[in-house]
Amino acid sequence: MLGDQTVNGNWAPHLHFQIMLSLLDYTTDFPGVAYANQIDVWKSICVDPNALFCIKNLHTKKSASNEELIGYRKQHLGKGLSLQYKEPIKMVRGEGAYLLDQFGRKYLDTVNNVAHVGHEHPNVIKAAQQQVAILNTNSRYLHENINLLAQEILATLPQELSVVHFVNSGSEANELAIRMAKTVTGKEDVIASEVGYHGNTNTCVAISSYKFDGKGGKGAPEHTHIFPLPDAFRGKYRGKNTGEKYAEEVQQCIDTIHKKGDGVSALIVEPIISCGGQIELPDGFLSKAYTAVRKVGGVCISDEVQVGCGRLGTSFWGFQLHNVIPDIITIGKPIGNGHPLAAVVCTEAVANQFCKRHGVFQHLWRKPCFLCYRNCCIANCKK
Ligand SMILES: Cc1ncc(COP(=O)(O)O)c(C=O)c1O
Repeated sequence: MLGDQTVNGNWAPHLHFQIMLSLLDYTTDFPGVAYANQIDVWKSICVDPNALFCIKNLHTKKSASNEELIGYRKQHLGKGLSLQYKEPIKMVRGEGAYLLDQFGRKYLDTVNNVAHVGHEHPNVIKAAQQQVAILNTNSRYLHENINLLAQEILATLPQELSVVHFVNSGSEANELAIRMAKTVTGKEDVIASEVGYHGNTNTCVAISSYKFDGKGGKGAPEHTHIFPLPDAFRGKYRGKNTGEKYAEEVQQCIDTIHKKGDGVSALIVEPIISCGGQIELPDGFLSKAYTAVRKVGGVCISDEVQVGCGRLGTSFWGFQLHNVIPDIITIGKPIGNGHPLAAVVCTEAVANQFCKRHGVFQHLWRKPCFLCYRNCCIANCKK
């Protein structure tokens, strides 16, 4: 019997003989190929098939055992890197909806949340390989592709959301979105949902109740205000018509901010709260919450990192489920199919205000100082 890689997996030579079955008393019910945990048994009773083929170096490439990999990780990789399963598994390949371990066993991947069009999708691989072979450089140069990608994203969005900023991760996208909101409003305080998660940078952790209210967390920082998880099934308010009640909780956050003499910079919410348990927002909640926040000059951010980008069936973006248009949306994981690509899309008004107040144009167009040849701004030149 001969089997190729799809039959035999990766652990065995792609051609192997199964003429010794009777030695294990399998007659009618042989499982097809040997199980990985029987490798030693088979090796001990089978003649090495390579004696026939004489393929050089067939057995020389030894891969590390799981124990060795775990040992190295424990000693040399970040201690926060957790491993799943009592017996951690080593994945060696992704293919569509599946992951394959080193024994060739296929796992239906219901965990990974970035491989939007499947693991190692041939079109994604081809596009990436072609581009990486030609050019990987700074976005300060002109190129068609950056414009084309922006056009493709904007074609899926309402015309109010018209300016794209490319970044590398969902965390970076939310970091920028919050910076924009703070710059545009001149205010510090952010309103976010209970059990919300928005990323792993300092600012993102500071607005993620999932983190600061979770194990080892220290509770909400001074400028973060959390409203209860808007869960009409198990939440504080249950049943129909709870949208208004949860929006009232957002209003209470606004009132608290005003009472301490501060102002609202942003409301940031996922259109389906993913880390909180894939909680669908109650009808009317988001539009009422947006109205309340905008009334006091705040900016509304929809975190689409997890649920946006064509993952919801009926609408391409999560906010479209709720009949609202945010001022800023953040896009992450699915847009790069697992590769480090993310984006922030905002209204022209937000983009213009952010640039003006941040002096971005000034930086880009400033001419070198004629005294020291640096961008020192001539008036302050020390030379
Ligand atoms: C809703 C949400 N926002 C932001 C992030 C952060 O994205 P990244 O891991 O790409 O930094 C995540 C990550 O899981 C997320 O689920």
